[in-house]
Amino acid sequence: MGTGGKEHVEPEGLARAAEWLARAERVVVSTGAGMSRESGIPTFRDAMEELWARFDPQELATEAGFRRNPRRVWGWYAGRRRRVMEAEPHPAYFALVELEPLVAEVTVVTQNVDGLHAIAGSHDVVELHGNLRRVKCLDRHHPYSGELPDQDGQAETDPPPCPVCGSPLRPDVVWFGEMLPERAVERAWRRAGECEVLLLVGTSGTVWPAAELPHVARRAGARVIEVNPQPSELTAVADVFLQGAAGEVLPALVRAVAERKRGSE
Ligand code: OAD
Repeated sequence: MGTGGKEHVEPEGLARAAEWLARAERVVVSTGAGMSRESGIPTFRDAMEELWARFDPQELATEAGFRRNPRRVWGWYAGRRRRVMEAEPHPAYFALVELEPLVAEVTVVTQNVDGLHAIAGSHDVVELHGNLRRVKCLDRHHPYSGELPDQDGQAETDPPPCPVCGSPLRPDVVWFGEMLPERAVERAWRRAGECEVLLLVGTSGTVWPAAELPHVARRAGARVIEVNPQPSELTAVADVFLQGAAGEVLPALVRAVAERKRGSE
């Protein structure tokens, strides 16, 4: 079927998925923590199991937890930020960039806060849960773009004060109990409702409202392709399940789309 035969995924599923993508004009790619695994970024849950396992997520990823103990929460996020800053996009990220000239409109909607899609070169990225590389102040949400002290995340340290209002700085990510950024949600839901194919990569489908996106796309008549080494909560919604790591499956899939496009010219 012209897929090169190198990938481990089931070739028939890959061929069907490639065919849908090659015919599509509007594609949404919805990514979760599994997308960044091969870049060495631990998921929220993995990170919790390491050094900071003794703390409850309610203490580390909520506004109430931050207010109770800003030194602890700032210290934990300093460690996550450092790992994110050191990480680099892997081949699946570049495969999504290579999809752009093959499809009229590609929108990446991510739950990840590492910023790697933009760094890889994806042009239309919607970040549903914010971005760990940015900080803002706790009380007034003033963005802060100055230097931050280099911390290794091994220790609790005071968050610097906002230079505008003096309230402590916090990571610009969505914490439990917080609203998702309105414009990002509006754009993601609109694109999902308009697309012909939604490609779901590396998400367990357990965090809402992000988990609703494939349902939105399905209801609007789109095909849903899932890439994950193991079935997720959303596998039942997928038209095709490509079992495997993003770094293996996405480059193979995009190569197959390119071959189809060349074949139809
Ligand atoms: P999860 O950590 O819940 O799920 C990660 C998914 O990635 C699982 O389904 C894995 O099987 C899959 N996976 C693992 N390795 C992979 C690989 N190499 N390639 C592809 N997939 C792989 O992550 P999310 O569904 O993204 O929310 O949920 C994370 C959200 O929960 C975060 O955005 C955060 C957290 O609570 C907020 O902060 C609001």
